Amino acid sequence: MIDERILRLLRPESVAVVGASRNPEKIGYQVVKNLLEAGFPRERIFPVNPNADEILGLKCYKSVSEIPYQVDLVVVAVPAPAVPGVLEDAGRKGVKAVAVITSGFKEIGNVDLEQRIASIAKNYGMRLLGPNIVGICDTVKRVNASFCQGLPKPGEIAFITQSGALGIALVGWTKLKGIGLSDLVSIGNKADVDETDLVEFFGEDQYTKVITAYLEGVSDGRRFLEAARRVARRKPIIVLKAGRGVRTIGAIKSHTGSLAGSFAAYEAAFKQSGILLARSFVELFDWATAFAKTHIPRGENVVVLTNGGGAGIMATDALEDYGIRLMDIPQDLAEKLRKHMPPFGSVFNPVDLTGMADAEQYYGALKDLLMHDSVDAVLVLYCHTAITNPQEIAEALLRAVRETESKKTVLASFIGGEEVNEACGKLTENGIPCYESPEKAASSLGAIYRYKHMLEKLDRRTEVAVSVDVEAARHVVRSALKEGRTTLTPSEAAALVGYYGIPVLAKKIAKSPEEAVRIAREIGYPVVLEVESPDILHKSDIGGILVGLQSDAEVAEGYSKILDNVSKKAPSARVNGIIVRKMAEKGKEIALGVHRDPIFGPLVMVGSGGVLVELYRDVSFRVAPLSLEDAYEMLEETKIYKVLKGYRGEPPSDYEKVVDVLIRLSKLACDVEEIEDIDINPFFVYERGKGGIAVDVKVTLVQR
Ligand code: COA
Repeated sequence: MIDERILRLLRPESVAVVGASRNPEKIGYQVVKNLLEAGFPRERIFPVNPNADEILGLKCYKSVSEIPYQVDLVVVAVPAPAVPGVLEDAGRKGVKAVAVITSGFKEIGNVDLEQRIASIAKNYGMRLLGPNIVGICDTVKRVNASFCQGLPKPGEIAFITQSGALGIALVGWTKLKGIGLSDLVSIGNKADVDETDLVEFFGEDQYTKVITAYLEGVSDGRRFLEAARRVARRKPIIVLKAGRGVRTIGAIKSHTGSLAGSFAAYEAAFKQSGILLARSFVELFDWATAFAKTHIPRGENVVVLTNGGGAGIMATDALEDYGIRLMDIPQDLAEKLRKHMPPFGSVFNPVDLTGMADAEQYYGALKDLLMHDSVDAVLVLYCHTAITNPQEIAEALLRAVRETESKKTVLASFIGGEEVNEACGKLTENGIPCYESPEKAASSLGAIYRYKHMLEKLDRRTEVAVSVDVEAARHVVRSALKEGRTTLTPSEAAALVGYYGIPVLAKKIAKSPEEAVRIAREIGYPVVLEVESPDILHKSDIGGILVGLQSDAEVAEGYSKILDNVSKKAPSARVNGIIVRKMAEKGKEIALGVHRDPIFGPLVMVGSGGVLVELYRDVSFRVAPLSLEDAYEMLEETKIYKVLKGYRGEPPSDYEKVVDVLIRLSKLACDVEEIEDIDINPFFVYERGKGGIAVDVKVTLVQR
């Protein structure tokens, strides 16, 4: 359901501009001028300025409340201290949408003033866009309520931007590239209206086919994900997320935390909610154009049609990078295609019409491809030659699509100079998205297939019920916190994951060398000794762990050695005793973990284990709660998965157990919100059917 107030904000019937200046160099003047030049009806533009009677030939009002007509949108361009008064006035008049262009709020530390304007808007039931924005460009109602240089070219792509400057720049760039937008909305500081509100709006909007965004951060991760998951079913959402840097590792105690950074959370969350993540604004608009202009393919059968072998190979390579394989051309289709090429052409895929190919041959070949049942998508490549006219080739391709009334996916790449550029623009305009290079076309087709596959997965979310002991887990965690600790001891950490059915090595604490020997005899040699301390998280760093001890003497000696190491390297650490545990039978080493992300909540991790986990970074993340599909998919993304499946003739390992543990970890992180991080490294995975075991578990907590 569309929020009527957002409709008024983005598609207003009438606009007041407060701070409409008489000075052409001021933003308030430019906004009024832009509205007029965009073709917005002049009788519904109301400049507001107490010091002027007329601006750009329009009557000027002293205040919003003085305007004797309904006002859908108030655009504010007065200095920051004057903004609260303007909002009060607009609220009293019953205005439901305001866009505050003014800077000088949260972005410079003026948090109180920003909160004040947000609460005024809330009190009056108004939606507030901004502050600190360039404004709104809407090509549907021809609203240029911004200080961008003109309206973008009309189209079906909505663009939400957290950077005002990028927004302004992209108006010109998209025009140059012939890319059409339905709207360009700058969200600035997001005091009220945020990316989620806009994704929801554009999701319902009949004029928008694709939603795109440049985001530096998301305000409310969970809300955004839920909205995106709903909207992505109807139309693609493509996000360019800035800020890939990993947060300062020093501030993060766990391996999982340092591997996660903040970008991993976005990557995981976007995958789970059907959002496509672009790496540059060029890529973002390449993909968006493909979605806006062509169709989603029914199946996976792709054909490349070309007049140049080189271009064909380049496209094939690039398609392979995106996991797209070219179909084998069936015999009957090959026979048809032969008619459109010289004897030295090729009917294998890429179908090579050769450099001799003319418009009629392109037409005939594309028509046969589109009419053949087995073909789902065609990528047409054209290299400009002296004997062909790109305009005629473009016409021929459009004719083939038109005459077959095809709903198949057709993309093109025309390579050449200015003439080719024109022909390419014509193709895009008329429903065949055309790119300057085969790689760009392949990347766009790749995005289309990723979206198709994500859509199929969005509906497949199998929740797995696991039996766990929530109360016992909460008790361990809360008792530690009550003692003022934010880490669990090794035995507590082992018990915690044990309550959630995760197989873990039993750990018994010895308080003396004699007791350690007695326990070692009980469980059988070889054994491991490790220090049990609430203050030491990385035990191996300080010599707090000894493995492979074979005899009573080694255990007794090891006990004293660990105490000695601790007293030298961590003299202030409290020591509760020394844990004696069985040497686990070695399996395939993986790492599992949880890290609570401030925006999206708990993230679950899986990857290659061992001491080099941060170096190899063979890890994959998903936001909890995990569905069965999420757990399989994240494991499949890692290299260690290939090892678990049985690499080079080795028997497969119990990867199903890993999936089970991932689901249990996800549940634990969701149930016990005081858990900040969990690191299980190593977790040994045994042969298929034999399970696995968590050897070392570290848990950090946070007081809530
Ligand atoms: N109601 C109506 N009009 C008012 C007013 C009020 N309460 N207070 C002032 N005005 C009028 C002024 O008289 C002036 O008109 P005039 O030139 O005809 O006299 C006009 O509004 C503008 O006020 P002024 O004080 O001259 O401000 P300014 O134009 O220099 O700056 C902003 C105002 C909003 C542009 C400026 O404060 C700002 O924030 N700039 C940055 C904007 C930006 O970059 N946004 C983010 C992009 S990413």
